[in-house]
Amino acid sequence: MLEVSNLGKQYPTPRGPLTVLSEVTFSLAPGDAAAITGPSGSGKSSLLYVLGGLELPSSGRVTLDGRDPFTLTRPALADFRNREVGFVFQDHCLLPQCSVLENVLVPTLVARSNGRGERGQDTERARLLIQQVGLGDRIDHRPGELSGGEKQRVAIARALIRQPGLVLCDEPTGNLDQASADTIAALLLDLHRQQRNILVVVTHSARLASMLPVQFELADKRLKRVS
Ligand SMILES: Nc1ncnc2c1ncn2[C@@H]1O[C@H](COP(=O)(O)OP(=O)(O)O)[C@@H](O)[C@H]1O
Ligand SMILES: [Mg+2]
Repeated sequence: MLEVSNLGKQYPTPRGPLTVLSEVTFSLAPGDAAAITGPSGSGKSSLLYVLGGLELPSSGRVTLDGRDPFTLTRPALADFRNREVGFVFQDHCLLPQCSVLENVLVPTLVARSNGRGERGQDTERARLLIQQVGLGDRIDHRPGELSGGEKQRVAIARALIRQPGLVLCDEPTGNLDQASADTIAALLLDLHRQQRNILVVVTHSARLASMLPVQFELADKRLKRVS
């Protein structure tokens, strides 16, 4: 369960604190999928970063399965992000020198350096996910040898490799043509149903938003449920 109560976010600026989020309250359960829309600069990315433990909230509380990530020590917070949260960004953020398989395995390397994880199992899971996202025949390609939509599919596989309970996507189809965007959206939803995670997708695309059962709109620093 993701529970957000009275969340506020301010950034310090030379002209004083800039408030981007105020009194944001909502909750989502495993199996829920939500879209967040809103104009550029309305704080959508800021909200996702706070939900994923990448940015500190200025006020309020975020808990995932009853745990507040912001009470953790730095290493424990890093571990929380790695294990509990999958991120998909607009610009895939893949490692250019690594193959598809290696990119998908990146989150498991961190886990392994902490003394957990099993190399053979991780590789098997990665291969399976790569097949599920339709890239079985591109497994040895580097990001430079893939199309935009294919790169985004790798990013999705990487986000899901550790089966996180919370999957956060920031404009995942923002750089894609409509056909690729539709494929990515269908894939995200399909894998979400299989893994029963909580999926939150920030998007400009009304088409993508309409595919998600819960819809929120961010405006005037506040989050409103619209359907
Ligand atoms: N690190 C930061 N420091 C100061 N201001 C920021 C920072 N990050 C974002 N902002 C400002 O916060 C507002 C919301 O940004 P963002 O969350 O990226 O919006 P969106 O994703 O909806 O376009 C913007 O006006 C942006 O300029
Ligand atoms: Mg943004």
